[in-house]
Amino acid sequence: MKSLMIQGAKILSTGSAIPSSSFSNNEISKFVDTSDEWIVTRTGIKERRLLQGIDKSIIDLAVLASKKALDKISMDPSQIDLIILATSSPHDLFGSASKVQYQIGALNAVAFDLTAACSGFVLSLVTAFQFLQTGAYSNVLVVGADVLSKWVDWSDRSTCILFGDAAGAAILQSCSSIDNSILNFQLNTDGNYSKHLSIAYQHNITPHSNLNLYQGSFKYISMNGKEVYKFAVFQVPLSILKCLNSVNMSVEEVDWLVLHQANERILTAIAEKLSISSNKIISNLRKYGNTSAASIPLALDEAIQEDKISHNDIVIIAGFGAGLTWGTIIVRW
Ligand code: UT7
Repeated sequence: MKSLMIQGAKILSTGSAIPSSSFSNNEISKFVDTSDEWIVTRTGIKERRLLQGIDKSIIDLAVLASKKALDKISMDPSQIDLIILATSSPHDLFGSASKVQYQIGALNAVAFDLTAACSGFVLSLVTAFQFLQTGAYSNVLVVGADVLSKWVDWSDRSTCILFGDAAGAAILQSCSSIDNSILNFQLNTDGNYSKHLSIAYQHNITPHSNLNLYQGSFKYISMNGKEVYKFAVFQVPLSILKCLNSVNMSVEEVDWLVLHQANERILTAIAEKLSISSNKIISNLRKYGNTSAASIPLALDEAIQEDKISHNDIVIIAGFGAGLTWGTIIVRW
């Protein structure tokens, strides 16, 4: 992070929302050839929440998570200047953030979507930080929301067992640079590996007869699990170390590791590589599975509610996923 910091930023509040319907591994094993034992051993996931209902979308979850974050600090939505909605499962390809803006009554806020799959919340937090640092805006709402259940092939056992639906929100506010709590960030992309995780567009075989234009639709999620696993376990510790080193911090100073909740084995392997005690890993995979852009804010919100994270704790937030993209943020809570 190279910065000419004018202002600092701090995270004032968090909120989260999950669908009411829970599905256990045993229920999934009724329609694909899998078992509770396989899923728990290989991923740590026991159940996931899925958004049911024809008229339900990420907007419902994002609105609920945002309202909870606002209520916690009794903030009037009109005080929000900017909303960034991290999602890869929008309700409208033109964007869903404006609907969230309207439904929460944040009528003074500009709102846009940011697409970066499971790294979406990290990239959105860093984007929000830029607007706060320059003094352009005072209050920013960052929401991570995904309903990948709409994009999963429910006959593909290698992916359908992994994902769940959720939303998480954080409200950031500008402050003096002395009080800044976003201590550093480190971001990366390698498009060469994008083929390993995608919801690809596929066009029709025959073009529109007069215009030679191909139209189409999106496929289901396709993932090379092994490659993504190897990438995460190799690259994420390096990103965390680079991020710490460039502000002269050591892994011993880290109080909490809030990683994208993809697989319990990935969380443990990353912590081991960094020699960080497994007690410092925040994990809620067991209950929710991989909720993509929502996983980090959902885990953060729960950890705060459970009084795990306290004032002045050093929290490492690291995301990774499709793109491939990955990155780290160091927060002094
Ligand atoms: O959020 C985005 C980032 N995504 C990730 O980080 C995901 C990273 N990858 C992973 O978490 C793991 O690779 C998976 C959990 C997806 C898969 O675990 P794995 O230990 O890498 O299993 P595998 O793909 O090597 O498959 C091992 C075996 C295969 O059978 P054979 O070829 O050995 O006979 C699979 O067909 O397990 C089989 N298998 C299953 N068996 C029962 C794959 N999925 C299942 C299943 N139930 N659901």
